[in-house]
Amino acid sequence: MAGTARANDQQAQLQALYAEMRPHNLYPLWEVLHALVTPTPRSPALAHLWPYAPARDYLLRAGDLISAEQAERRVLILENPGLPGSSAVTPSLYAGLQLILPGEVAPCHRHTQCALRFVMEGDGAYTAVDGEKAVMRPFDLVLTPNWQWHDHGNESGRPMIWLDGLDIPTVRFYDASFAERLPTPSQSEATPPGDSLRRYGRNLRPFRATAADRRPAHQPLFHYPYAEWRESLLALAAVEAPDPHLGHAMEFVNPADGGPVMPTIAAHVRHLPAGFETKPRRSTDGTVFVVVEGRGTARVEGREFPLAERDLLVIPSWHALELQAERPLILFGYSDKAAQEKLLLYREERQAAGAAPQRRPAVTAPRPVLASGPGRRRSRVPPPPKPRAVPARPGACPAVQPSPGCCRTRPVSPRCRRLGRDRSRPGR
Ligand SMILES: [Fe+2]
Repeated sequence: MAGTARANDQQAQLQALYAEMRPHNLYPLWEVLHALVTPTPRSPALAHLWPYAPARDYLLRAGDLISAEQAERRVLILENPGLPGSSAVTPSLYAGLQLILPGEVAPCHRHTQCALRFVMEGDGAYTAVDGEKAVMRPFDLVLTPNWQWHDHGNESGRPMIWLDGLDIPTVRFYDASFAERLPTPSQSEATPPGDSLRRYGRNLRPFRATAADRRPAHQPLFHYPYAEWRESLLALAAVEAPDPHLGHAMEFVNPADGGPVMPTIAAHVRHLPAGFETKPRRSTDGTVFVVVEGRGTARVEGREFPLAERDLLVIPSWHALELQAERPLILFGYSDKAAQEKLLLYREERQAAGAAPQRRPAVTAPRPVLASGPGRRRSRVPPPPKPRAVPARPGACPAVQPSPGCCRTRPVSPRCRRLGRDRSRPGR
C-alpha cells in the first residue's frame, strides 16, 4: 500500500516537472526513448498498389484543365496512405505521374533534388539535361541529377506519361532545397540527342580533361534505354538460375564509379520466370516498383496485391516481400539504398519460405472504379496501351502498341472542340 502511494507520488511529481519544463522546450527522453531507438524499423508508411488505369484517367483529366506551363510540372503525386500530407511515397522518397501533351514544354529549371524518370507510355518526347536531349521511349530510365538544368518537351503526336522518382523528402529532411528557373522555357541544345549515351554508355569514355569529355565526371550518363537494359536482363536470365529471394536482378550503375545511379537513389530491374515464386526478403530501403511486363502477385506482411502491367507498388522498409509470377514478370524499382549504404544503415534479411509473418486473411488491393464526374463520359478515356511480345534485340522495341491517348482515337474533348482543333496537334 505504501509502495503504491510512493509510485503515485512519483508520477504526480514527474507530471508536475514535465508541465514546468514544457514552456522551456525541455522534455524527458525516458518517456519516448523506446519509440526513438527501436530494435527494428517501424515505418509509418504502408504497402500500397496504384493500378495504372485509374491514375492515368485522372492524369488525362488534369491535362484537360491545366497546361504543363501553367503547372510547371503537371504531376499527380503518389502519396503513401500512411504518410498523409507529406507528398511522400516513403519517408525518404517521392513518386509522381507526369503528363506532357503534344506540343507542350515543361519549363527549364534545376534543383538540389535528384530525379529519375521512368517512361510509362508514349514515344518520342524528350528530357533535356544540360543542353542534351534524351528521346524517351517506353520503359526507358532517364536521370536529371542534382543541380543540372532540365526541361521536358513533347514533339511527338501523342501524350507522354512517365513516373517521376525524386529524393524530395530526403532533401527536405536536410533543409537543403535550392531551385532556379531559366528565363526561357527551353534551354538551348548544345549537343545532338543521345550524345552522352554514345560517349559514356559503352564501357568507354573520352580522355579526362579533353574537350570531348563533356559531361560532369561524377555523373556522365543520364539515359538507360529499355531496349538495352531488357536485353541484358534477359541474357542473364537465359544462363543463370533465378536468385531464390530476388529472381534475376540487375542494378543500374553510374559508369563513373560503378555505384548507384545517383547519390541518394538506386534503381534496379528484376525478372521472374513464369511460375516462379520468391522466398520472403526484407530490406531497409522502402522501394517503389513499376510492373513493366507480365502478371503476378506481391505478398507483403499478410496482404496480397495483384500485379498487372504498369501498376505501381510501394513496399516500405523492413516489410517482407514475396513475389509470384503468373506470367514472366519484369519489374523496375527504385529506392534510397544509395543513401543508406553511404550512411552504413542498409540491411537486408533473406528468410526461408514460410518464414514471413503469419498472414491475415488475404486482402486484395481494390481496383478503384474510374471516377465519373458530372457530364463525364467514361468512354472518353481510352484504356492504357497493351504491351505485346518484345524481341530481345536492341532497337526492335517498343514494347507497347502506339498509345491511343489522344483525340484522334477517341471523341474530341470539349476543350478541343471549343478551340476547333484536334488535341493531338502540336501547339496546344
Ligand atoms: Fe525538375
